[in-house]
Amino acid sequence: MARRYRVSVIPGDGIGPEIAIPVLGVLEALSEALGGFCFEFLCLDAGDEVKRRTGVALPEETFEGVRKSDVCLFIAVGETASEVILPLRQRLDLYANVRPAKTYPNIPQARPGVDLVIVRENTEGLYRRVEDGTEDWGVSIRVITRRASERIARFAFELARREGRRRVTCIHKANVLKSTCGLFRDVCREVAHQYPEVQFDEMYVDACALKLVMNPGAFDVVVTTNLFGDILSDLTAGLVGGLGMAPSGNIGDDFAIFEPVHGSAPDIAGKGIANPSATLLSAKMMLDWLGEARGAEVLEGALMEVLREGRTLTPDLGGSAKTHEMAEEVSRKIKEIAEAV
Ligand code: NAI
Ligand code: MG
Repeated sequence: MARRYRVSVIPGDGIGPEIAIPVLGVLEALSEALGGFCFEFLCLDAGDEVKRRTGVALPEETFEGVRKSDVCLFIAVGETASEVILPLRQRLDLYANVRPAKTYPNIPQARPGVDLVIVRENTEGLYRRVEDGTEDWGVSIRVITRRASERIARFAFELARREGRRRVTCIHKANVLKSTCGLFRDVCREVAHQYPEVQFDEMYVDACALKLVMNPGAFDVVVTTNLFGDILSDLTAGLVGGLGMAPSGNIGDDFAIFEPVHGSAPDIAGKGIANPSATLLSAKMMLDWLGEARGAEVLEGALMEVLREGRTLTPDLGGSAKTHEMAEEVSRKIKEIAEAV
């Protein structure tokens, strides 16, 4: 019997649905070509359009549908992003935000040889929104706990071990933020002792920003707090060609939501020209998380082949193909790869 995965899908707004349908087609093609696993997709409503109709951006049925599924694939919503993705991350305790940045072939403006992963703490720091203020002053409290720091550090080292990566770099600013960054750094050092086969080093966040631009190939796994990770991961997305190529995962102990980093792109919505790569790469991460390593490898390999050939690319990649045409080309490559073995 084939392994059957119930995947909740939130297409969302703007380019979200334009990407969701072709990408689900690619996943169908993958399961048909490889066998051994299959998907049951459950499309759920969330975002601006639903809020306009019903008053809420994340309906309770959607939350329940996500919770009962095996894993979720989220494309993009518009202005209601913080009302949808933040509660999903928080209520499901998806404490690790994982953002790989890798150089793929033929990508305009991509720096060669980048292959790193940012592991960002996803539940606390300045994004806990412990805030107060008047017209004359404002204060945001940065919450860092041993528990959250320890589990994100452990997550980063486990990822390094699983993916055969050699080094974990802890990014902080402990010289200035002694109580919060100091605690985070100390906990990372403690956890590092339990992974002697993985190298450990640390760097101040400002120095890290500089070095990421000057010499991105020097990084492997980066572990950091919420706000620093948010900023640095946009920087690393820029290194590999921008938002069309940037996937991510929000991962907890027993559930995960995979999503492209980009939003609903209202400037190109309705034209059918959004680049599906970030979502395909998010789906590849989803397959890895489900334990379908072969499926993940074939999906990534097929996309790489389409990029390398350069014949069926969306406009942001210098081509003139539609989203569905590029996705269909990926499906064709999947069949070729599967038939070749
Ligand atoms: P955005 O990511 O939607 O777009 C930024 C730029 O990148 C635009 O020029 C867009 O055309 C381009 N772009 C993005 N994805 C692309 C793709 N797949 N293919 C080709 N080009 C692509 O960010 P922006 O413009 O800041 O926000 C637009 C809306 O998206 C806002 O309402 C924002 O709140 C929402 N948003 C939602 C997110 C989510 O659902 N997780 C994340 C970021 C923004
Ligand atoms: Mg961001």
